[in-house]
Amino acid sequence: MTNKVPYKIYLNEDEMPTRWLNIKGFMKEKPDPLINPSTGKPCTADELKAVFCDELVAQELNATDKYIDIPQPILDFYKLYRPSPLVRAYGLEKALDTPAEIYYKFEGNNTSGSHKLNSAAAQIYYAKAQGLKSVTTETGAGQWGTALSMAGAFFDMPVKVYMVKVSYEQKPFRRNVMNVYGADVVASPSTTTEAGRRILAEHPDTVGSLGCAISEAVEVAASDPTHSTRYVLGSVLDQVLLHQSVIGLETKAALDKIGRKPDIIVGCAGGGSNLGGLIAPFMAEKLEGKANPEIIAVEPASCPSLTRGTYRYDFCDTGKICPQAKMYTLGCDFIPSANHAGGLRYHGMSPILSKLYHDKMMTAKSYVQSDVFEAAVKFARIEGTLPAPESSHAIKGAIDAALECKKKGEKKVIVFGLTGTGYFDMKAYDEYLSGRMTDYIPNDKEIGVE
Ligand SMILES: Cc1ncc(COP(=O)(O)O)c(C=O)c1O
Repeated sequence: MTNKVPYKIYLNEDEMPTRWLNIKGFMKEKPDPLINPSTGKPCTADELKAVFCDELVAQELNATDKYIDIPQPILDFYKLYRPSPLVRAYGLEKALDTPAEIYYKFEGNNTSGSHKLNSAAAQIYYAKAQGLKSVTTETGAGQWGTALSMAGAFFDMPVKVYMVKVSYEQKPFRRNVMNVYGADVVASPSTTTEAGRRILAEHPDTVGSLGCAISEAVEVAASDPTHSTRYVLGSVLDQVLLHQSVIGLETKAALDKIGRKPDIIVGCAGGGSNLGGLIAPFMAEKLEGKANPEIIAVEPASCPSLTRGTYRYDFCDTGKICPQAKMYTLGCDFIPSANHAGGLRYHGMSPILSKLYHDKMMTAKSYVQSDVFEAAVKFARIEGTLPAPESSHAIKGAIDAALECKKKGEKKVIVFGLTGTGYFDMKAYDEYLSGRMTDYIPNDKEIGVE
């Protein structure tokens, strides 16, 4: 075991994973399938292929292979910004005076500013390989849309992005970046789709939500008369967790290098993709009975799908045109308050993570946004990196875990996912620093619990 752990543990390019890890391949009890609401039966590959790229449908339905090879062009794209560093948070450990070791996997080291590029590269590559002419998508905070725009530019694939209205208005520069990479960006809900017009008629003042934006993007793809447009999604789906497993595989390789095993793994959870990716190899070991790390999902108290939602079939989108997934949900009609962690404002949760949570393989907690920003500012001042509001949920979770270790005198190894940077979130930081930030916690009625 190496005693002197460097601040940053980098892998060489030839140590990067060449296969994604499919958590479902390790699960004895699989998550329940996606349901086609018009038949009431599990979605078939052909039904899904009307909306998603063929190879991505195959990955979505693959519940048996433990690993799936990463095609070379995707690996080449990954090398533009990967491997990403695993950082030892010496400064934070000292400031907290904790006996715990704290590490974070930093995924913000690329222009899109987040982990979303890992799946964007894969999804655009498969769309191009299939000969499609364009893709549509939704974006919340804007990171996914930016990532998809970057991958679209790289693989020469036109991209149309429906951006949740509150983010579109709060983060104009974010859409400018997407425009630089050639994407067409529309504020959602919009009048360009039937779903958008319906939502606007019911809620004229809505600030939008991921669920609304998904409905619009899916409608545009599904109604292309030439069938050469497909919809791509930045989270929730099993295929996205699969692509994001590079995060966890790199993290494990870096920890192996310094002879460490995580006792606690913390990640923020919106639709569940970064957390599902970060925990992939560790959850695989847990499912095989080889290790037993505590895994903690952190979500906003304003959109508490795991901690207060119910585990049931629900639509993945507000417009109710997508398949239904068995997941923890607040109800597809739930429109979360304008919390600044736009990427965590989703009513549901990845079906894989939902199943693992239901099976008590992981836990979850929620925080109000002012506590999250307090942790974010502390982290920025001590560790130097300006974190995204979404990622700051994981920072807060890791800080609390480290303080718990201090109380109990435990020298645990804590790993958390620092999914992105917060350069486009200065309005939120400004609100926090000037004392104008408010916290909203929905009541039971709002989340459909009477
Ligand atoms: C920086 C960042 N972190 C986390 C998330 C949450 O998404 P997921 O739960 O799919 O990782 C987002 C989503 O937009 C994001 O932009």
